[in-house]
Amino acid sequence: MDHDRLPAVSFVSPNQPLTRARVIALPSKKKLAPKLRDWDAQGAISRALEKDPSFTGAYKQVLTLAHPSQDKIARIVLFGSSKNPKPLAIEQLGGRLARTFLWPAEKKETDEQNSAKAGMKKTDTAKTGPVVGIDLRGVTQNNPFAAHLAFGILLGLYRFDRYRTTPAKNLPPSKIILRVDRPAVAQKAFDRLRAVALGVYHARDLVSEPSNILYPDSFARRISQLSKLGLKVEVLDEKRLKKEGFGALLAVGQGSARPPRLVVMQWKGGGKKPPVAFVGKGVTFDTGGISIKPSANMWLMRFDMGGAAAVVGAMEALARRKAKANVVGVVALAENMPSGKAMLPGDIITSLAGKTIETLNTDAEGRLILADALHYTITRFSPSYTIDLATLTGAMIVALADVRAGLFANDSGLEKRLREAGEATGDRLWPFPMDAEYHDMVKGTRGDLRNIAPGHGAGSIVGATFLAAFVGMTKWAHLDIAGMCEADKDKDLTPKGATGFGVRLLDRLIA
Ligand code: BES
Ligand code: MN
Ligand code: ZN
Repeated sequence: MDHDRLPAVSFVSPNQPLTRARVIALPSKKKLAPKLRDWDAQGAISRALEKDPSFTGAYKQVLTLAHPSQDKIARIVLFGSSKNPKPLAIEQLGGRLARTFLWPAEKKETDEQNSAKAGMKKTDTAKTGPVVGIDLRGVTQNNPFAAHLAFGILLGLYRFDRYRTTPAKNLPPSKIILRVDRPAVAQKAFDRLRAVALGVYHARDLVSEPSNILYPDSFARRISQLSKLGLKVEVLDEKRLKKEGFGALLAVGQGSARPPRLVVMQWKGGGKKPPVAFVGKGVTFDTGGISIKPSANMWLMRFDMGGAAAVVGAMEALARRKAKANVVGVVALAENMPSGKAMLPGDIITSLAGKTIETLNTDAEGRLILADALHYTITRFSPSYTIDLATLTGAMIVALADVRAGLFANDSGLEKRLREAGEATGDRLWPFPMDAEYHDMVKGTRGDLRNIAPGHGAGSIVGATFLAAFVGMTKWAHLDIAGMCEADKDKDLTPKGATGFGVRLLDRLIA
């Protein structure tokens, strides 16, 4: 929600000066664009290019040098670009620049970064963080290049330091000024991307929050604040869930002192058309319940609400950019705990849809809460299509690691559009099958269904086909994002930690 999370970004025309700035120019294969050549009057850039044979100007390469005149410009950063880069490639470049130059990590400082710092003016390290100027003359004539570069920078600058009591030594840039040939074009493209960046930041913040701060009720209250943006938000509390018969969601939450919630967000920007629906798994902590998980990596199960975070972030982005579409976001929030009141292995529960489920393993809880959330969403809103996002199975990580999320769809058109949105945004997906044989594996013996398929493999497909029993004939896709919510190393657009996976994907799909 916080606007101040992002540095101010502005676009200025070439005749405006970039003061107290670091400058980034863009050579293609070591040749300066003609406009930059006359700007390089003292020849510093050309000399540096000649001197450093390792800098070839190849795509994503970066070279930094202190500016010799020292009057207004602190240092120069050159980076390589391909001839007609795709928006995603430009964003990745921006993300890399953010992490390596604009706000490098504190600990590991390379010589390169130290020498870059030596060229910076004192004013750059004041309380507010430096003003950064980026000169893109000659490379932005007729495209939203600058907007995508700025978007990538914002995504790459993300850090979660709410709970740090010792301030970071270096501050993030407070302001980023891009000098471009057509500022109005860049600004217009950026306004939309900025809305998406705020959605991604929000999703990352939610995933980063610990489970003692973010639990079903506090999560629901945070979502309620989005009504400021014009979203309609409804919270179904425990009493209401009981009244309506959310048997599966309540069963998952019943072992916890923190009762479950279901939150419905609605964005109405598309007139009378039926909405698109997003549904998110929001298990604020997954101990496994009575089928308890091993302790070693259990702390990670904080991120078991990454699907819900993606839905919230996407709804925020759509509201902020005033999307011309009707979209509902539904998140099922519960904490999966063992206790004297907890659901037991072998219990038979009655879902909202009326189907009974044998809960052979209380750790297969995501599919239970989604069963109710999907049924509720589809019967209440009759969406044109429904997409759920969930950190559903460890088996998904076995199959795809942290490179792609699993895609399970009952409609080929929807599958295709999702895959395209994935390639364009970098939130990449890969399709999996859901043949009838898999459906047989989740048939129950004492009830209609069972929540695991003992003795069978294909854990992620089994999870998806369990969900399929609750969507009927409507167009639906399930994204198993178990490996995607948190990264254990820096990538161009996602610093180590929460990634916000899914926000950009869903935004793109709606667009
Ligand atoms: N939240 C987990 C899945 C998960 C595991 C996500 C590791 C990310 C990293 C889910 O609720 C779960 O526990 N799934 C079980 C299913 C099994 C009991 C059929 C799993 O994957 O082991
Ligand atoms: Mn589980
Ligand atoms: Zn889980």
